[in-house]
Amino acid sequence: MTVMDRRSFTALVGATAAAATVLPVSASSAAPAASRSRGRGRRSLPTPYVVGHRGASGYRPEHTLASYTLAAHMGADFIEPDLVITKDGVLVCRHEPEISGTTDVSERPDFAARRTTKTLDGVATTGWFVEDFTLAELRTLRAVERLPQVRQENTIYDGLWQVPTFEEVLKLRKQLSLDLGREIGVYPETKHPTYFREIGLPLEERLVPLVQRYGLNNKNAAIRIQSFELTNLLMMRSKMKVKAPLVFLTSASGTPYADDRTYAELLSPAGLRTYADQIDGLGPDWSQVIARNSDGTLGAETALVKNAHAVGLEVCPYTVRAENQFLPTDYRIGADPNDYGRVMDLLHRLYDAGIDGIFSDNPDVAVVARDTWRG
Ligand code: G3P
Ligand code: CA
Repeated sequence: MTVMDRRSFTALVGATAAAATVLPVSASSAAPAASRSRGRGRRSLPTPYVVGHRGASGYRPEHTLASYTLAAHMGADFIEPDLVITKDGVLVCRHEPEISGTTDVSERPDFAARRTTKTLDGVATTGWFVEDFTLAELRTLRAVERLPQVRQENTIYDGLWQVPTFEEVLKLRKQLSLDLGREIGVYPETKHPTYFREIGLPLEERLVPLVQRYGLNNKNAAIRIQSFELTNLLMMRSKMKVKAPLVFLTSASGTPYADDRTYAELLSPAGLRTYADQIDGLGPDWSQVIARNSDGTLGAETALVKNAHAVGLEVCPYTVRAENQFLPTDYRIGADPNDYGRVMDLLHRLYDAGIDGIFSDNPDVAVVARDTWRG
């Protein structure tokens, strides 16, 4: 796909999505009544709801205010900041503590000496770490596109924008809600919570007061707090008295860090029953909802949605991306891994599976797919 093709496609689906967003809440909430009672905070949410993954990261460098703003304008119901923390204890939006993949820090001679190797959740990791920078220092850096070989168009924005704080995102969410005439939710994820707690910078102690201060600590608020570690979600619920909806992120394999049960055990019907009453939803890899065959083609639906719904949990899988290389092999169009494939069809299959929400780097596409899926 040429740059012009990609821009035209983006403009087209963006315009369609923008038209859809002017519908009043009541008209855009044609969800089946049964799904309304699942989880918390479902009042007035379209089903499936659309989460702008790291903003509209298919079109802008991820985790920038520009990316979040575009996602909301494209029709996303939520914007998704991943949260890490600075040396002076400020929550900021990056996908990981190591920031050389998404900022220009490696080009800054004044920070060259901060390059180091640390053990992150048991994995030796080399680079520049957010917790070694004060907020003032971090603000001198600029965001860059994570996938320049895949999303070359996005590199025109390299160097323009700062790393946002979580508080800025909370303010932006409020302003976008006013501007667009519909409530834009926020879907923050605590990244590596045990790691940050062990180095004396616990994320939750900063997160919960902000959620409270911005009026989002109630079960119907336009927020979901997510984590790949179940233990910090349960701690926030029991010890920190968090009322806001909580979503446990899961992987197709492995064990949550600092846990003794595997994701598979935690997602079994018996495993789900041990914590379902304390949280509100699951965020699985989408391949845990519809399996992929060994040849990379799309396989059969799993029992995960049914099992989660049976214990009152909503299901919002991650992450649908439009490019061929991220799609099942039988959903690709042509041989270029960076061209767009049959992403609409994949979204329709996931919507058919009964999911309650979807994370996408292309929120405009997920919104159009929802409109066409509803017929
Ligand atoms: O939070 C949902 C999804 O974002 C989880 O994956 O690695 O993109 O944060 P990741
Ligand atoms: Ca995330």
